[in-house]
Amino acid sequence: MSIEGLAAAQQKMTDAGVPQTAIDVFTHYYAQLEDGTTGSIPEETIEPYLDPPELEDVTIDPFAAKEVFDQLAIINLNGGLGTSMGMDRAKSLLPVRDGRSFLQIIVEQVLAARRATGARLPLIFMNSFRTREDTLEVLAQYPDLPVGDLPLDFLQNKEPKLRADDLTPVEHPADPDLEWCPPGHGDIYTALQTSGLLQQLLDAGFRYASVSNSDNLGTVPNPVIASWFASTGAPYAAELCRRTPADRKGGHLAIRKSDGRLILRDTAQTPEEQMHFFTDEHRHPFFHTNNLWFDLEQVAAILAERDGVMGLPLIRNEKTVDPADKASTKVYQIESAMGAAIEVFDGATAIVVDRSRFLPVKATSDLLLVRSDAYELDERMALVQKVEKVADVSLDAEHYKLVGDFETRFPEGVPSLREASSLAVEGDHVFGAGVVVRGDARVTAEDPAQIPAGTVLDG
Ligand code: UTP
Repeated sequence: MSIEGLAAAQQKMTDAGVPQTAIDVFTHYYAQLEDGTTGSIPEETIEPYLDPPELEDVTIDPFAAKEVFDQLAIINLNGGLGTSMGMDRAKSLLPVRDGRSFLQIIVEQVLAARRATGARLPLIFMNSFRTREDTLEVLAQYPDLPVGDLPLDFLQNKEPKLRADDLTPVEHPADPDLEWCPPGHGDIYTALQTSGLLQQLLDAGFRYASVSNSDNLGTVPNPVIASWFASTGAPYAAELCRRTPADRKGGHLAIRKSDGRLILRDTAQTPEEQMHFFTDEHRHPFFHTNNLWFDLEQVAAILAERDGVMGLPLIRNEKTVDPADKASTKVYQIESAMGAAIEVFDGATAIVVDRSRFLPVKATSDLLLVRSDAYELDERMALVQKVEKVADVSLDAEHYKLVGDFETRFPEGVPSLREASSLAVEGDHVFGAGVVVRGDARVTAEDPAQIPAGTVLDG
């Protein structure tokens, strides 16, 4: 049954014009899916990674930094569909501040860094078939953005969603587009190669790449990290942040006992009964931000050595064929994580950076925070935290989890959080303009459905 499933999936990819290397990568993962490989990484097989270098200890020579910056390309991951926030488009299209979207802020961060340093700094987005058109439309507003002949984006591969019951490609005649998915951000290596962009960057004199997520506004181009990375000679580096007790999610690096290599362990790879180790901020003190640095020459070399198949651990993502219809056919999406490649590179390393480089929007509560006055955009277009500690925000899942629902409940903008320690919203409420939160505030289901303009929520 599943041999037929694989053959049918391969045929579907060939018919859709997917490059052979991407089909080979898919085939590699399909075999793991069929074997029931879980990719579990038990605690006893790893040592904690306790002594990464810290950015605050790094000093650089400004001339060397300039030289590295001149060879740096910025790659932004924009192929995800924001399904956990109820989106089926790029999350980066959402407005954040002053009428600007994530996408526009990221572009303006790079343009500001070019003005400040004189470096070329190409900005190139990795899009998927669902995010490309909208993204290019926004980028067209910036005629100065392109650098030489380099494109503004490159396209991820696409692969068939597989029926969970028999691993054959799912059929969904009502919307055949939904039969396909992007293969996770681990596809970046394959996509860089199959799109030809990797070679194009090297030919244009770009040796290094700084890579990050389009839902993280913290990654302003940084010459200090760039020159640190170049000085290590490492093929690959990951940015880490120090964990606080509140950081219970997010992967961490560890040293694999069997071969001494650095590896990435995510929640899904941790046995459930060992989650207390995973979340222990003393045992695994740093989390993985998904901000990465590549030496593109060494990435090209390793891809050539492996015929384009990086062989990263499989992530089996269980969804329904139509994410908006939980009753539709159950499917598996074969995915991999970009940061898992740390185990593939000899001499890969990591660096601990300031928390300001990690401002992810994974849920509407994060969106509320980055839209609020707890942050401000500075002249670098960086989102700067204006409070000692940002408030803990929790929003009622039933009424606020999906972006569409969230927007209708904050039609006049989000409340002021400058003086807030926490905000918990239970039940369904529409917030008027200029609501102010002070200290620890809780809105319960019994409170009025309409929170009037100017209300001060205090306790
Ligand atoms: P996430 O998996 O956290 O976000 O990806 P997502 O895919 O947008 O949201 P969900 O999981 O559907 O809710 C982190 C970053 O990686 C990019 C996303 O665009 C985001 O910037 N990404 C993710 C890709 O570029 N390609 C993918 O196939 C998956």
